[in-house]
Amino acid sequence: MSQPSEQTQHSATICNIAPASDPATLQVAVKILTAGGLVAIPTETVYGLGAAINNKNAVSQIFAVKGRPQDHPLIVHIAELKQLQDVAVNISDDALKLAGSCWPGPLTILLQRSNQVSNDITGGRETVAVRLPDNVFTRQLITLLGSPIAAPSANRFGKVSPTTAQHVCDDLQSDVDLIVDDGACSIGVESTIVDFSVSPPQLLRPGGILVEDIEQILGYQIKRSDGISRASGMLQSHYRPTCQVRLVETEAEASRLLKTLEPQLMPARILNRCENLPLYASLLYNDLRQADTDQIRTLIAVLPVNTGLGAAITDRLSKAAAPLQGLPAS
Ligand code: TXA
Ligand code: MG
Repeated sequence: MSQPSEQTQHSATICNIAPASDPATLQVAVKILTAGGLVAIPTETVYGLGAAINNKNAVSQIFAVKGRPQDHPLIVHIAELKQLQDVAVNISDDALKLAGSCWPGPLTILLQRSNQVSNDITGGRETVAVRLPDNVFTRQLITLLGSPIAAPSANRFGKVSPTTAQHVCDDLQSDVDLIVDDGACSIGVESTIVDFSVSPPQLLRPGGILVEDIEQILGYQIKRSDGISRASGMLQSHYRPTCQVRLVETEAEASRLLKTLEPQLMPARILNRCENLPLYASLLYNDLRQADTDQIRTLIAVLPVNTGLGAAITDRLSKAAAPLQGLPAS
């Protein structure tokens, strides 16, 4: 197993990748974050590009490295439920109940921010998005650092999110000081975002925690996002590979389309993991990236049912297939 300081050579770029399993990695990561650097952190959803929330320079570095507009707010990651009151105020009983049942896990809740969370993180908003990830290394890192970590997904703005340390390296190269490798992300799509700053609570992004489960826990229906999403950074076009993504309803439709594609849209490939939605989700970003690596021009993706985990997969596939409009989201 490689040492934390060891450099990993990949496609003519040098990335500093260190295994989460090496106890020294935690110390190195704390040191870098304390000094105002950026560390790519593993989570169960996707890898994040992390900075200590109290380090203004490091937070602004996140936007510079991603190429992300300043008004696209960042999620604040905490290590235990009691830290929620450090970063948010006016936390409703329902928000606490949901967090208590789903954390650690792929749920992000939007609340009124405390004065510990700066404008730079929230893009000038009075709300903060908070999440307690299901990754032991990352939670230990937050605890040892003594500060929550602000982290968007560790990809360049508008591109496909990373679900392995190698994806982060491919995207960010040496623009990130350390990439902590904890293997492939088990869920593979981002967290579900629920806005508790409005009543009734509203779904802003479908993700790893199922809306049906959230409603079961709360005991009532939450408002679905209504097209004009209130979470910036959720424009139509997002998670875009270079190849064109075409969406179909069935495998038969995919085969028909494959046979009739114009030569300039070839080579093409069918993506269909509808029979196993957890696998569809966990491999989705890898599949999109692989299509580009293999120089596929058209990826024909079969849409799953638009419920349960299928809702998150459908959302990401639809964004990957949407034409570029203005600024892409990230
Ligand atoms: O699973 C995840 O949530 C991953 C991992 C790394 O935690 N993070 C992630 O971050 O997906 P990001 O930045 O790629 O997506 C967060 C979304 C963005 O669309 C952002 O605009 C929205 O959350 N968001 C964050 N804070 C917000 C706020 N205060 N108000 C509205 N939307 C917010
Ligand atoms: Mg993202």
